Amino acid sequence: MLNKESKWVRAYTNIAFIKYWGKKDETFILPQNNSLSLTLDAFYTETKVTFDSELKADVLWLDHVEQDEKALKKAQVILDIVRQKAGLEDCAKIESINHVPTAAGLASSASGLAALAGAASLAAGLDLSKTELSRLARRGSGSASRSIYGGFAEWQQGTSDADSFAVPIDDADWDIGMIFIIVEDAQKEISSTEGMRRVVETSPYYEGWLASTATDLAAIKTAIAEQDLAQVGEISERSALKMHALNLSAHPPFNYWTPETIKAMQKVEDLRAQGYPVYLTMDAGPNVKLICKASQMEELKNILLQDYHADQLVLAKPGPGLQVLEDEQE
Ligand code: ADP
Ligand code: DP6
Repeated sequence: MLNKESKWVRAYTNIAFIKYWGKKDETFILPQNNSLSLTLDAFYTETKVTFDSELKADVLWLDHVEQDEKALKKAQVILDIVRQKAGLEDCAKIESINHVPTAAGLASSASGLAALAGAASLAAGLDLSKTELSRLARRGSGSASRSIYGGFAEWQQGTSDADSFAVPIDDADWDIGMIFIIVEDAQKEISSTEGMRRVVETSPYYEGWLASTATDLAAIKTAIAEQDLAQVGEISERSALKMHALNLSAHPPFNYWTPETIKAMQKVEDLRAQGYPVYLTMDAGPNVKLICKASQMEELKNILLQDYHADQLVLAKPGPGLQVLEDEQE
C-alpha cells in the first residue's frame, strides 16, 4: 500500500480512429470490437478524490457544480471498485474540472473517467499498474480505458473483465494532428451508451460492421507503423462513417448531425480536392474532427477561418498519458 494521497490527476481526451460502438456486456463494459484511438493534447480533465469518514454520501463536483444522480452513479462504479480493492468504507468527494465541453461528443467521458480512475486509486493508497488503471477506467466509460496512454492506444476487447484493457501502440511522435471544428458544444440528447445500445439491438448491419472493423483495425496498425497519414486518415474516415451509418439503420433511427456537420464534411472534401491530406472523423455529436499533418495545421486553420470563427477551431497534437500533478490546482 502507498500512502493515501489526494492529488489532482490529469487525463487527456482521446478520439477513436477505429470506433467502439457497441457492448457485449453492459455491466463490465466489454465491447463488441477492438478500438484504436489517439490521445490529444488540447482537451483534458483534472480530478481530485478525497475519502473522508465524515462524509455521509459520495459527491461529485464537476466544474464547481454538484452533479445529479446519473453522473454520480457512473463515477460510483469506479469508487466502489477502488473501495473494495483497498478495504475502505469512507465516502468520497470528487472534484473535477473539464477542460473540454461535457457530453458534446468531444470525449469528456474518456478524460473524465480516466482521471477519476487515477485520482480515486491514488486517494485510496492503491498502486495500480497501467493495465489495472485501464481496466478500472473502462468500468466507468469504455473509451476511458484508452486515455491512460498517450499517443495511439488499442483497447483490446478481451473475453472478460480481466483481459479487456488498452495497450499502447505507437507514441505518435510523427507528423499527425487533429483540428476540431466545433459546430456546437451543447449536450447531446442521445448519450453514447444509449446510442450504441440501440444499434446493437436493432441495426441489421451490425454483423457487417464487426466483420469490416477487424479488417480496418489490422490495416490501420500497419499504416501507423509506416507513419502513412493518408492510409491512417482514409481508414479512420471509413470507420467513422460506418458508425454513423449504423445509427441511421437503427430502429428507431437517429443521428448526431446538424446541417453545420454536413457543411464541415463538405469542407474536408474541398480541402482534399485542393491537395491537402485531410480526413474526417466524428463521434457521438455534431462536431467534425480533421485528421491532418500537424505541420499543416496552421495553414489549414487559416483556410478554415474563411468559414469559422477562431474559437470554433481547436488544434491538437498527440497528447500524453495519465499524469499526477504535484501542485494544488484552482
Ligand atoms: P462525451 O461525448 O463528452 O464523452 P458522454 O455522453 O459519452 O459524452 O459522456 C458524458 C458523461 O460522462 C457526463 O454526463 C458524465 O456522466 C461523465 N463525465 C464527463 N466528465 C466527467 C468528469 N470530469 N468526471 C466524472 N464524470 C464525467
Ligand atoms: C463514439 O466510451 O462514451 O466516442 O462506454 O457507454 O461510456 P460508454 O461509451 P463511451 O463511447 C465512446 C463512443 C465513441 C467512439 C470511441 O470513442 O471509440
